[in-house]
Amino acid sequence: MAFCSSLVSPKHPFIKLFLLLATIMRGGVGQSYTSVFIFGDSLADTGNIFFLAPSFHSLFPPYGETYFHHPTGRCCNGRIITDFIAESLGLPSVRPYLGMNNTSIEEGVNFAVVGATALDAAFFEERGINAFTNCSLSVQLDWFKQILPAFCNTSSKCKEKFERSLFHMGEIGGNDYNNPLLHLRSIEEVKTFVPLVIKAIASAIKELIDLGAVTFMVPGTTPIGCSPAFLTYYETADKEEYDPGTGCLTWLNKFSEYHNEELQKELTRIQALYPHTNIIYADYYNAAMHLYRSPTQYGFTGGTLTACCGVGGPYNYNASAQCGTSSLVRACDDPSQYVSWDGKFLTEAAYRLIANAILEETYIHHSSS
Ligand SMILES: *[C@@H]1O[C@H](CO)[C@@H](O)[C@H](O)[C@H]1NC(C)=O
Ligand SMILES: *[C@@H]1O[C@H](CO)[C@@H](O)[C@H](O)[C@H]1NC(C)=O
Ligand SMILES: *[C@@H]1O[C@H](CO)[C@@H](O)[C@H](O)[C@H]1NC(C)=O
Ligand SMILES: *[C@@H]1O[C@H](CO)[C@@H](O)[C@H](O)[C@H]1NC(C)=O
Ligand SMILES: *[C@@H]1O[C@H](CO)[C@@H](O)[C@H](O)[C@H]1NC(C)=O
Repeated sequence: MAFCSSLVSPKHPFIKLFLLLATIMRGGVGQSYTSVFIFGDSLADTGNIFFLAPSFHSLFPPYGETYFHHPTGRCCNGRIITDFIAESLGLPSVRPYLGMNNTSIEEGVNFAVVGATALDAAFFEERGINAFTNCSLSVQLDWFKQILPAFCNTSSKCKEKFERSLFHMGEIGGNDYNNPLLHLRSIEEVKTFVPLVIKAIASAIKELIDLGAVTFMVPGTTPIGCSPAFLTYYETADKEEYDPGTGCLTWLNKFSEYHNEELQKELTRIQALYPHTNIIYADYYNAAMHLYRSPTQYGFTGGTLTACCGVGGPYNYNASAQCGTSSLVRACDDPSQYVSWDGKFLTEAAYRLIANAILEETYIHHSSS
């Protein structure tokens, strides 16, 4: 059996499950979830990347070493946030869409793809920005429409099944900013993408509501100013740029906050337009910031801003020598002592704590309040 080596284990899984269900079911009927559909990027991909880019570095050791004991494509040493959420709902890890061939979609499907953007690849091509994948949110939505007839085929059946489905919309949008910001585009230019990204997320949610979706969990982006990749790329001698409490780059975190504020405003608008739905904002940003502010409280003694798996540089991150690309790039002995797994993504230990915070409602906001 594979047990997680994390120092922190869930204290009261049943209470958490109850709280999440109570949250999700606010104003609804007392039933439990039977399906989870996930749209998103590398924060949620559980293996679609294998069918699209089989040489991607998250498909090689030491990815997956802590939990699955082999790489799964997840950008982590083990489970990711959506795995923990499915687990609390009593559902198995949501399987990747590609390669499942329309089989057993009852428990849900994961459409998330590493590198996916909220905006279509053409938007970036027009601006001379390379998109890592063209499996954008609208493409993932098309995939959902393709499997829909296999999920339910009468309006009463669909209504019943949609009411028991959780739509995990994101995190998505991070790559719309990260790719350009890590390739010499100015923050001013990238800031102009925000309203468009929010609009793309909003129209995907509305389209799903039109198809029958009722309950959404919509995560915001994580604090990119605390990411070893960004800290390395934007390293500066100007101490003023760093948050003295965390060592994170303040201006980049402010940008993440800006996206998240705009997203929440839009979710409030959608909730008002569709009172029968339940739209929950999952605050990944503040749940993660909590770890950067009080790392030792959670056993993160190895560091918050240095990657567990990496080689060289002040943050143990080198874009030309990433985790999984060569046996020369090693993982630390105990990933549960680190917040960052590979410089871009977090460790299973950090993801578990973020998922727990979301499940405990600490970092959940109802869009109607
Ligand atoms: C899905 O179908 C394709 C083609 O029919 C096949 O090559 C592939 O192995 C199947 N995948 C799974 C997971 O069954
Ligand atoms: C899944 O089913 C849909 C509808 O029945 C079909 O259009 C689609 O081609 C199928 N996809 C695969 C991969 O078999
Ligand atoms: C994505 O790009 C691949 C390779 O260029 C292409 O074959 C595929 O049709 C594209 N898919 C979409 C949805 O644009
Ligand atoms: C509708 O779905 C059921 C299974 O949920 C299947 O048995 C039936 O053949 C489907 N009907 C059509 C017309 O696709
Ligand atoms: C990053 O890795 C590349 C490739 O291994 C190497 O040439 C380069 O010197 C490294 N950079 C730093 C700052 O360590």
